[in-house]
Amino acid sequence: MNKENLIKQYKAIYKKSPTHIIQTPGRINLIGEHTDYNDGFVLPIAIDRYTNMLASKNDDGKVRLYDLKYKENDEFNLDNFEPSQQKKWSNYQRGIAKVLLDAGYKIGGMDVLIFSEVPEGAGLSSSASIEIAILLSFKELYNLDIKPIEMIELARKAENDFVGVKCGIMDQFASLLSKEDNALFIDCRTLDFQYIPLSIQGYSFLVCNSMIKRKLAESSYNQRRQECREAVKILQKHLPEITVLRDVSINDFEKYKLYLPEELKRRVEHVVYENERVKQAVEVLKKGNLEAFGELMYQSHKSLKELYEVSIEELDLLVEIGMNEPGVLGARLTGAGFGGCVIYLVEDSSIEHLKEKNLDVYHRKIGLIPQFYKVVPSRGAYVWLNGNR
Ligand code: GLA
Repeated sequence: MNKENLIKQYKAIYKKSPTHIIQTPGRINLIGEHTDYNDGFVLPIAIDRYTNMLASKNDDGKVRLYDLKYKENDEFNLDNFEPSQQKKWSNYQRGIAKVLLDAGYKIGGMDVLIFSEVPEGAGLSSSASIEIAILLSFKELYNLDIKPIEMIELARKAENDFVGVKCGIMDQFASLLSKEDNALFIDCRTLDFQYIPLSIQGYSFLVCNSMIKRKLAESSYNQRRQECREAVKILQKHLPEITVLRDVSINDFEKYKLYLPEELKRRVEHVVYENERVKQAVEVLKKGNLEAFGELMYQSHKSLKELYEVSIEELDLLVEIGMNEPGVLGARLTGAGFGGCVIYLVEDSSIEHLKEKNLDVYHRKIGLIPQFYKVVPSRGAYVWLNGNR
């Protein structure tokens, strides 16, 4: 939907014009999966699918929300509010208000219209894009002096503590700070980041949605986090200086893996080698070596499937189709797994053929019709309209 249309909708609902329009993207992760909460490395890009948020102040201390996708409204009073049981979608907005108030920021009411183009439940971080959008709306409307890294940490806190999803820091980071034509290389311990220019002329990232909503995603995700903590405890007996899996080198792992039960050994092996793959990915991408990068994508998927065990048959099939398709350099699941999307790095001239093949094989074997989104590495959050300036 274009800007004019959104503004028209806003006026129809609130009988006034918005002073601000914020756009915040979803993301795909190119490589580095289940490493962020182990303080490791990740390499996401923002995608050109955005949450649009139109807002203006009100002076009655209420946050009024209208979500165009759900065609539903909600409101809460900043003086006194709880998580909503009926309209769970508004808990992202409520959570952000809560963390800002708890941190001592002075915020007031606003009238907000939300229209998100980021597919939901597909592992493309629609929730992080909403969190960053509402945070940025408060920041802009109430002139909050708040630095990007603090915004990212607060958004993650809202999701962890208020919404109740124990995610890592990657998604909020990518939605806020990504840059066009670049990947974002994040050290999730220090929160230092670097932009890695992507020279992918003639190739694209094609996202394929398996149409399987992430099953058991939360419980299995939390279980993996717990397994990583348990593994650290065991390894600490031999490596007393470690606090998270990020601290375990490949050498350490190979030397001490015999002390780990089989399942935990697989989990640690994934994390330790995946961190290494992210660093290698950065090097090969800097050299423009897309073949080598594609190979790392395949290795990452194999590891997520066999060692971290977060893939499902449908995602494996989509990756396998890519492997047998000329023009595809790499494929892997992106995000938490258990459903959601696979990404392909594919030559532009092969995209249509890959899609046809996918539609045919996936539909025949799984009975579902996958969806495709060709995405470009995009900029992070930005203020599209600022009526105060
Ligand atoms: C989800 C979480 C991220 C990250 C990925 C797995 O997307 O929100 O923080 O842990 O899973 O890499």
